[in-house]
Amino acid sequence: MKDALGSPQSMLLLGGTSEIGLATAKALVSRRTRTVVLAGRRPAALEAPVEELRALGAERVEVLAFDADDTASHADFVARAFTACGDIDVALLAFGVLGDQRSAEDAPEQAVALLRTNLVGAASLGLHVAQHLRRQGHGTLAVLSSVAGERARRSNFVYGSSKAGMDAFFEGLGDSLVGSGANVLLVRPGFVHTKMTAGLDPPPFSTTPEKVAEVIVKAIESGAERAWAPPQLRYLMSAVRHLPRSLFRRIEV
Ligand SMILES: NC(=O)c1ccc[n+]([C@@H]2O[C@H](COP(=O)([O-])OP(=O)(O)OC[C@H]3O[C@@H](n4cnc5c(N)ncnc54)[C@H](OP(=O)(O)O)[C@@H]3O)[C@@H](O)[C@H]2O)c1
Repeated sequence: MKDALGSPQSMLLLGGTSEIGLATAKALVSRRTRTVVLAGRRPAALEAPVEELRALGAERVEVLAFDADDTASHADFVARAFTACGDIDVALLAFGVLGDQRSAEDAPEQAVALLRTNLVGAASLGLHVAQHLRRQGHGTLAVLSSVAGERARRSNFVYGSSKAGMDAFFEGLGDSLVGSGANVLLVRPGFVHTKMTAGLDPPPFSTTPEKVAEVIVKAIESGAERAWAPPQLRYLMSAVRHLPRSLFRRIEV
């Protein structure tokens, strides 16, 4: 249960090796979060993060294996996560893949695999987590969407459409939770310097995992349901969404 100041006591991180996810876990533990469940598809890679979170003051850090693509295992996995934690104040859905647009156009099975992870996997895990939050009567399901989903670009439409789909899905899931005590927080970062974007040219407004974490923590504590990182992207993307298509096509994005 969040404390009197709105700070979560416990967190489930889905995508335990995500740089944005881990920066958020560290920011929360540096405040008042004491129990963390780190879930990832490569549990051995979670050993170092476990130690980092303990060093920051986490009292209980559990590791669980999950694969976003293995939807048949999600019910059991989410049940185990809630049993391990007892009570989850924040579940952060931080897994995802960027893929390679050009090769996905040449090999459609790559596009399908990306959509399976980013959209189908996210939807499946989101629904299972939401069932538990509803039962608890409290908790925030924070979801890493992207500004890429606000308007799909020619250069990145496979990833962009996966984020557009997941964003719409979680908007609806958030609406379905109204009155339950639980809520959905949609986080829409721009370009973030992580291993996902390594080697790519950073556009204006690029940011760091730590800055995104600050935005997420503030949004969780204030009960916000949408957040952009950096926050100015909210206004920029609103303009981008409304550009006439003929003009949008002429811009190199
Ligand atoms: N970086 C950006 O510019 C940016 C901008 C907007 C939104 N986002 C979104 O923010 C989230 C986190 O991104 P990040 O930058 O922190 O990326 P990251 O450091 O590359 O982390 C991606 C995470 O996804 C996990 N993952 C991928 N496929 C999985 C699967 N099938 N099952 C379970 N886990 C899987 C990875 O696990 P492994 O370590 O095992 O590969 C890793 O934990 C993603 O959803 C991303 O789309 C990122």
